[in-house]
Parts: sequence; C-alpha cells; structure tokens
Amino acid sequence: MKTVAYVLSAGAGAFGALILYRDKYVSVNYKGTEQLLGKTCVITGSNSGIGKEVARDFAQRGARVVMACRDIKKCELARDEIINETNNTNVVCYECDLASIESIKSFALRFNTEEKYLHILVNNAGIMWHPQKLTKDGFELHLGVNYLGHFLLTNLLIDKLAKCSPSRVVNLTSAAHKRGVIDFDDLNMSKKVYNAKYAYEQSELARVLFTREFCRRFSDKGVTSYAVHPGIVRSNISQYTIDNSIISGTIIGPFMSAFMKSSKTGAQNVIYCALDKSIENECGKYYSDLTESKPSKEALNDANAKRLWAISERWTRLK
Ligand SMILES: NC(=O)c1ccc[n+]([C@@H]2O[C@H](COP(=O)([O-])OP(=O)(O)OC[C@H]3O[C@@H](n4cnc5c(N)ncnc54)[C@H](OP(=O)(O)O)[C@@H]3O)[C@@H](O)[C@H]2O)c1
Repeated sequence: MKTVAYVLSAGAGAFGALILYRDKYVSVNYKGTEQLLGKTCVITGSNSGIGKEVARDFAQRGARVVMACRDIKKCELARDEIINETNNTNVVCYECDLASIESIKSFALRFNTEEKYLHILVNNAGIMWHPQKLTKDGFELHLGVNYLGHFLLTNLLIDKLAKCSPSRVVNLTSAAHKRGVIDFDDLNMSKKVYNAKYAYEQSELARVLFTREFCRRFSDKGVTSYAVHPGIVRSNISQYTIDNSIISGTIIGPFMSAFMKSSKTGAQNVIYCALDKSIENECGKYYSDLTESKPSKEALNDANAKRLWAISERWTRLK
C-alpha cells in the first residue's frame, strides 16, 4: 500500500514539475537575436493569445508594430501593456475586422496611406469551432475570418511588402488542416448540415493552400510566405471546444489545459518563420515546432490552390 502511495505521489510530483517548467525546458524556443529597428510589422488579432505574444516580441526587438484588431479597446489595453514592458512606444492599434470586407479595405487604405513600410505581415487572427454564423459579406465565419479576410488583406498590402523586400507573410494554420477538405461544391457550407469542426478544418487547409499559391505568384518579388502550426495552445480560441458542464469546467478543461503550450511558447514558431534567415528560400513550406513539417496531401494540391485563389479573388471582389 505504502509503495503505491509513494509511486502515486512521485508521479503527481513529476507531473506538477512538468507543468511548471515545461515552457522553460521542454518547449522549443526561438533563440535568434535579430533586431527589427526600422522594420514595420502588422499582426492581425494581436490583442490576445499568440498574436499578442508575437507583437510583444517584435516590439522588444525594436520594430514598429501595427496591431490590427477588431476591438480597439482590447487592443489599446494590450498595446499599453506591451509599451510599458518593452519601452518601445512605436506600437499602434489600427481597427481591422476580418469578418468585413469594408473594414479590411479601410484598414488597408489607412495603412497604405499612413505607413511607409511593411516588412512582416502575420495573419494570426482566427476562430475555432464557432457556432454557425456568416460574416458581414455572407461568408461562412471560419472561411471568412481565418482565410478569405487574410487573403484580401494580404493582396491589398502586397505592393508595400514588395517594396520592402525581402519581406515575409506568416500565415497561422493548424495541424487540423490535415483532416480538412476544400469542398468546391459547397465552400460556404450552405447546402450541407453545418459542422463547426469541418468548417474550421476546411479554413485551416485553405490557409496552407494560400501560402503555397502566394509563393508561386510573389516569391520572385522577394516576398516569401510560410504556414505555421503553433501547437496546442491555451487561449480564448478553445472557448467553443468544451461544453459548459460542471465536469468539463472543473476537471476536463483544467486537465487538458495543463498539457497545452502557453501563448508565449505558441508564438515561437511564428517568430521563427518571420525572422530566421535559414528559411528565406523555403517559401510555401509548413512549420511546426521550428521545423519544417509535412502538410497533408490535399495541402500540396497545386491545382486546388490555384482554383481556390481564383474563387477567392471573385468572392472578395479583389478583381
Ligand atoms: N490555440 C491553439 O491551440 C491553436 C492551434 C492551431 C492554430 N491556432 C491558430 O492560431 C491563431 C491565434 O489563435 P490563439 O490561440 O492566439 O487564439 P485567441 O487568443 O482567441 O486569439 C485570436 C485572435 O483573433 C482575433 N479575431 C477573431 N475574430 C476576428 C475578426 N473577425 N477580426 C479580427 N480579429 C479577430 C481575436 O480578437 P477578439 O479578442 O476581438 O476576439 C483574437 O485577438 C488562430 O489563427 C488559430 O487558428 C491556434
């Protein structure tokens, strides 16, 4: 009996130590010391989670950081925290709701008018397993925010990116893209019964295909693009993944979150893809834990990447 108690308490101790020190010793952190003085970076959805940690890191390195957020009050709180911590006052909030073409266009107009440079664009904003909803323009919300909004934004900023080459676009995605399928007959999920998980997976696959097709079109202009899976990260994004029962809230949720990365650790792979020199010729690749990783077979389908691009141009009225 005593032995069982010893084993159990040793196990619990080891588990506790793993949770406490995992971010420091177990997780992969980016060690690059690049400075970003004179560089301008845009990060969408940077008022919380991974985006906020990327903004903090870029500010620490001296960049001008434009936080592109839909909620300006939340953005200003995050910006003030970052300025206080880094002493970099060159951090600003611009309104940008990725669920609205009108808002994306006003953001781009303001940015292109007021800002001289754009060296790094991080397409980070995202939602997961959201109940059925459409964007202001009638797109299924996952497709609209995670993919189409960023597709339009990137295209509206491309001239500035090309002018500042070598420049980079980092697209957040997820390992969940591997279960995704682009349903060209019903991209907007209006014909079939809505399934939030399926909608999320399709949008994350669209982000990987976008990264690939972007490289085919723009790498010769010195703008490179990378798709990033940040890992399983504790953040607001999982708000719809766990139901509201007492068991989920008090046992399952906290237990699962103990195994997740912090937002700071989740940001490392994004920072690596935005800065590391060794991958400057690796346009279009997919990264996980600071290492190139194999995306799904669907994500390597160049014909689908082109077809999706053409549809996205029409839907976002880019052309
Ligand atoms: N966390 C994970 O385990 C995980 C795994 C794989 C991939 N990812 C990807 O990582 C990215 C960041 O996620 P996170 O974990 O840091 O989540 P998060 O903390 O929930 O951050 C998401 C950000 O996106 C913003 N956003 C949502 N809808 C928006 C819209 N319509 N317009 C503009 N901004 C909007 C949110 O703004 P509000 O505060 O206004 O809502 C928030 O700032 C996402 O793209 C996600 O797909 C995350």
